[in-house]
Amino acid sequence: LNPNDKADIRAPEPNPGQIMEISGSYWQSCTLHAGVKLDVFTMIGDDRLGSNEISGKLGADERSLPRLLDALTAMNLLIKKDGRYANTLTGKMFLSKDSDRYIGYIIMHHHHLVESWARLDQAVQTGNSVQSREFFNDDTVRESFLMGMFNMAMGLAPRVAKAIDLTGRRRLLDLGGGPGTYAIHFCMANPGLEARVYDLPATRPFAEKTMQKFGLSDRIAFSDCNYLKDPIRESFDVAWLSHILHGEGPEACQMILRKAVSALRPGGAIIIHDFILNDTMDAPLFPALFSLNMLIQTRDGRSYSEGQISDMLASKGVKAIERLDFRTPNDSGIIMGTV
Ligand SMILES: C[S@@+](CC[C@H](N)C(=O)[O-])C[C@H]1O[C@@H](n2cnc3c(N)ncnc32)[C@H](O)[C@@H]1O
Repeated sequence: LNPNDKADIRAPEPNPGQIMEISGSYWQSCTLHAGVKLDVFTMIGDDRLGSNEISGKLGADERSLPRLLDALTAMNLLIKKDGRYANTLTGKMFLSKDSDRYIGYIIMHHHHLVESWARLDQAVQTGNSVQSREFFNDDTVRESFLMGMFNMAMGLAPRVAKAIDLTGRRRLLDLGGGPGTYAIHFCMANPGLEARVYDLPATRPFAEKTMQKFGLSDRIAFSDCNYLKDPIRESFDVAWLSHILHGEGPEACQMILRKAVSALRPGGAIIIHDFILNDTMDAPLFPALFSLNMLIQTRDGRSYSEGQISDMLASKGVKAIERLDFRTPNDSGIIMGTV
């Protein structure tokens, strides 16, 4: 052995750096949440403003605001020059309400979950959700959740609509479709397609506004539906279930899938989009964390593995089940089959 090689083959000395980084990373999350909640990115817009000008407009404390602005600068979301603050390209594009690509709703949704996440230990110990039943009754919370779903889906739906061949399909069911982002993109990519978004009545105004914004109100309709209680009376060529199975336990998932499959005409396709775990259940990271997110918020929700979803579909008579070669930044995946 060349003594110079020794250092390379020795296992690295354990150090607490990685643990410290994980432990404190919520400080950055909370700093971002505060910036979005106070709307500093929209306020700054295309300008370069001093902190006293920003605090005047926001009505924020003059001594405290610079600390927030400096931390956002350290996080590369603002630029500071000669004591004045401007948006970075990323900040302006995604955090200013004046941008079409604003993602502040999903950030506020994450913010609303912080309190429950801080009680994760309690959820693990008791096996119960730690979120109040009233949580979604608050208008701001509901808007952040539903429009947050829109923010997330807008980043993916154009790719999804290209990746799935719906040639010859005429009617699509978007079950638990929320603001209808996927129905909208499937219809834009397939001129002969019509869609129905089935979701709870409280979702209707958000879905109708979104369909209208895309000029698709004549091809996509909203139906009030509680998929745990109501039948699906119409028939379809395609059923798209995006991010709904993770909200329920296995029994409810079986019931939802049974309803979706029975609503399909022979030869129809059922397509599941969700955060999908490996069959060992311990990776990838985001679906594993998302399962905890469901633990704190729901009675039975969780992330499912590829094998679990495929087995549930097979038990409903779905054939030709396959996972599409479609990867996303937070490891959501697509499994589809036909009836
Ligand atoms: C996580 S969001 C997913 C929205 C959309 N599918 C997407 O991927 O962007 C779950 C959706 O399911 C709806 N939902 C939850 N429980 C429901 C139920 N029992 N019946 C119908 N819709 C429900 C919610 O209102 C919400 O729009």
